[in-house]
Amino acid sequence: MTRHFLNLADAGGNAVAAMLGDALDRKAARKGWAKGRVDADAPLAGRVLAMIFEKNSTRTRVSFDMAMRQLGGSAMVMEAGGMQLGRGESIADTARVLSRMVDAIMIRTDDHAKIEELAHYATVPVINGLTNQSHPCQIMADLMTILERGLALPGLEVAWLGDGNNVLASLIEAAGMMRFNLRVGGPAAYAPDMEFVERALALGAAITITTDAAQAAAGAQVVVTDCWVSMGQTGGEAKRTALHPYQVDEALMSRTAPGAIFLHCLPAHRGEEVTDTVIDGTQSAVWDEAENRLHAQKSILRWALGQL
Ligand code: CP
Ligand code: NVA
Repeated sequence: MTRHFLNLADAGGNAVAAMLGDALDRKAARKGWAKGRVDADAPLAGRVLAMIFEKNSTRTRVSFDMAMRQLGGSAMVMEAGGMQLGRGESIADTARVLSRMVDAIMIRTDDHAKIEELAHYATVPVINGLTNQSHPCQIMADLMTILERGLALPGLEVAWLGDGNNVLASLIEAAGMMRFNLRVGGPAAYAPDMEFVERALALGAAITITTDAAQAAAGAQVVVTDCWVSMGQTGGEAKRTALHPYQVDEALMSRTAPGAIFLHCLPAHRGEEVTDTVIDGTQSAVWDEAENRLHAQKSILRWALGQL
């Protein structure tokens, strides 16, 4: 079976745990090394990753490229608009052709149905680099950052403030899989994807959805937010007004547990979903989180290619 990574459920809890352990070990093993130096075991030597972007990216693009370099392989980046895909070649035919030439495909697309179709026709692993529905690679880096800070996942108190978006969908999925408690604070009009919530609840997760920001943040060990208007979304001003009460500021952080950490997938819109004082403050783990995209991605690639 080809190992696609469209959502965390494609791997399952045991594989997610194995990837996180591998990512932490590999990060420690190359501490202080030059960033472009290949890992001692070069586990993906000779392997090539193709990346397709339909939307902008800094972290996903650079972290996958550096991940392949550090694993001893290589990567190519294609903007969807510059491919024949951009002028009507089908996703199925694109999948068939790329599967003959590269070892894995990562795609960032505006429509989750497209990545499902790509995975259906590809005979090499397809990895979700963000869709309108979910962002599982981001949450792997977030889980890694939480573990690195000495926090255990089962029973962890996590708060999400803001929009019920793609990043939150993957965080909800992780809550079910890794058994942490999640309180979502946001306006009812921008609630999370209920299919993800129901699946996580069925796995035994404790998920609370509230319109009360203070209630969501109370006692949290980890506070997570993201932009209020995701790429490709419209209706910005009304949404920003509705989400303003869920801004993560010092007052909100004062309600959290002692030693709580702040996460944000970035890019941040300072002064909207988070204040400068929080993102630049002592509780912020966002730069470790961004770096961990690289380390987590390496383990996702190793899993997808059957090495974990
Ligand atoms: N967090 C994240 O996916 O960042 P990019 O959009 O820069 O890839
Ligand atoms: N929710 C954001 C995440 C960006 C990394 C978006 O989809 O634009």
